[in-house]
Amino acid sequence: METGKNILRKEKTISGFSKLSKRGKIKWIVENFFKDPENVMRELMSYWHHNEDQQKVLDGFSENTISNFYLPYGVAPNFLINGKTYCVPMVIEESSVVAAASHAAKFWMSRGGFKAEVLSTQKSGQVHFIWHGDISKLKAHFPTIKRQLIQQCTSINQNMVNRGGGIIDIHLRDFTNEKAGYYQLDGIFETCDSMGANFINTNLEEFARGLQAYLKESPDFIEGEKSVEIIMSILSNYTPECIVRASVECELEALNGISENIDGPTFGRLFETAVRIAHIDPFRATTHNKGIFNGIDAVVLATGNDFRAIEACGHTYAARSGKYKSLSDCRIENGVFKFWLELPLAVGTVGGLTSLHPIAKRSLELLDHPNAEELMQIISVTGLAQNFAALKSLVTTGIQKGHMKMHLLNILNRLEATESEIKEAIYFFKDKVVSFRAVQDFLDFCRNNNSEKGILV
Ligand code: MEV
Repeated sequence: METGKNILRKEKTISGFSKLSKRGKIKWIVENFFKDPENVMRELMSYWHHNEDQQKVLDGFSENTISNFYLPYGVAPNFLINGKTYCVPMVIEESSVVAAASHAAKFWMSRGGFKAEVLSTQKSGQVHFIWHGDISKLKAHFPTIKRQLIQQCTSINQNMVNRGGGIIDIHLRDFTNEKAGYYQLDGIFETCDSMGANFINTNLEEFARGLQAYLKESPDFIEGEKSVEIIMSILSNYTPECIVRASVECELEALNGISENIDGPTFGRLFETAVRIAHIDPFRATTHNKGIFNGIDAVVLATGNDFRAIEACGHTYAARSGKYKSLSDCRIENGVFKFWLELPLAVGTVGGLTSLHPIAKRSLELLDHPNAEELMQIISVTGLAQNFAALKSLVTTGIQKGHMKMHLLNILNRLEATESEIKEAIYFFKDKVVSFRAVQDFLDFCRNNNSEKGILV
């Protein structure tokens, strides 16, 4: 039965939307989905880039674009990583994240800074296929098949090989115990400074064609074995062989004064316990790792990398033991506090958005044009710093203290508070619960009582 709601929905469909001009798209949208079409149209257009060429670059990244969606671009200075200082660009909408990263960076700068090391850099992709034949024959032929597939991809690989990368290996993987006839060609690649998605996918599709041709032409395979059904050829975003490790350490005594009323050894013990809890309980581990990705995603976005790939990979890695756990770890050994993070990060500094997005290019310049390995180090360190800052707040003052200050400032901005009203509000709410209503009442009171003259403080 067609309900009123369904009928309304149908009216709001369209064919040929992508062919409309940008104005045409906006017009259709505002007329169909908004109560005040003119205002919305004006607002959406107000976020178009004033430079038409620049706008074209942005539009080129996606489809059906009607405007730009702005996010804050911040920086966290004073990151000392392997003896070099960085000012780290961060794109994030959540308040306190950049401030927390900056505080952690400064804290560790005076305690030897961060160490970071890339442990491996390989990525993989798979041709998933169904084949019903004699596996011992396929295995016997596989060294020849592999040689041919690699040979066949020579021209696709030339550039990458010149840069020191290319196809590392191809494995035949047998999944027939889970699904009849299901195998994979598992390609291992080195993609140097590029994330390498296109490169890997192009090779895989070539592998798939090569495998089909080989089985068809080889006289050793009988009729039923000559056909192979290629299901798909695609890179894997899980890159457990592309790992970076970031760490900090200091004497427990060097943590003295980190927070009021708490000494270094006590803080170290509470912190270590908090990390341990994130290894025990997946409920806590998820939030703990979310805090790590607050830092990681922000730098990944700022440098034009693919944050969905990084997140998906990180969470799979966090569950690699069969249980979802913290990505970071902490130990106190012989009076030394050690805190580290190890995770896969497949990022690039050439190709893709990294060289197209105007601000991503500036981010890389700000970071002194890192190669992919250096960028892996910077990103992992930002994740570690973020995790340190979050746990520090959690085991000392509690997270709300810092959050509430930012929350208060956001509310004050929304209510168009003056500078002196802001000062008074910060003082007033020092020991009170912040809510929109409470801030509004406070401002009303100020304004009615002329608090600009300082009655409240
Ligand atoms: C909030 O965005 C992130 C935290 O919840 C992380 C954590 O709990 O460790 C503060």
